[in-house]
Amino acid sequence: MASTTLPAGLLDALRQAGRVVFLTGSGVSAESGVPTFRDALTGLWARFQPAELATPEAFQRDPQLVWDWYRERRRQVAAVAPNPAHHAIAALEARLPETLLVTQNVDGLHQRAGSADAVEFHGNLFTNRCRACGHAAPQADPELAAPPACPDCGERMGPGVVWFGEAIPAQALERAWRGASEADMLLAIGTSGLVTPAAALPEVARQGGALVVEVNLQSTPLSAQADFVVTGPAALTLPALAAALDDILP
Ligand code: OAD
Repeated sequence: MASTTLPAGLLDALRQAGRVVFLTGSGVSAESGVPTFRDALTGLWARFQPAELATPEAFQRDPQLVWDWYRERRRQVAAVAPNPAHHAIAALEARLPETLLVTQNVDGLHQRAGSADAVEFHGNLFTNRCRACGHAAPQADPELAAPPACPDCGERMGPGVVWFGEAIPAQALERAWRGASEADMLLAIGTSGLVTPAAALPEVARQGGALVVEVNLQSTPLSAQADFVVTGPAALTLPALAAALDDILP
């Protein structure tokens, strides 16, 4: 197995950090086989236009097309498993004194790996939401063929994810913002740092005095703000970080 060299000083900084925030993007699920958004060729946005599928207008225009696309994504996710990156984050949460996991991902893989309290910044594929009255409910059956009617107001419900132009769920935004501003360290893992407001969280953390760590295959707009850069696949680098921390913690 390829070894992962961690940047000098990162381990000590992590051990000394009181409050640690993990900010994850689709790169953390890539090695589970879930497509990212912007990776050329394989990324979802490399093959589809977001405006055709991930906006309230697209859902109004053609609800079945949008529903079918999300149903395909539910099927994909239901058929895969968390990868070592998800498990390493759950292990770090268990070992560190105070952590907060904020994910942009809607696949629920962090929860399936044992991260019980993930802040879902962009919602969750396996929930539905009524955009007319706000009613939300779990959507356990990935195969549901058509958008269900809202039990409260009768309107058509859509996937419980945040679409372009929609607000981040208020509680998720508040928890993430507060967590980042109070953090001693924020690790941005597998995100291109292109979509706000999630992409602003590393800067919020830095301005609050936190150290910023970027874990990615390549540099991103967040790299310039990073105190440490860990380059490589998260399914390798995060287990290496978790194991190295285990070696030095009592
Ligand atoms: P992107 O596809 O924009 O970026 C994925 C990032 O993960 C890139 O920086 C890759 O280099 C990196 N990456 C890929 N494989 C990796 C691996 N094995 N290990 C580590 N890094 C890896 O996805 P996000 O940044 O998550 O929002 O996109 C943010 C938001 O844009 C999504 O939540 C979604 C999308 O539009 C909404 O739909 C509202």
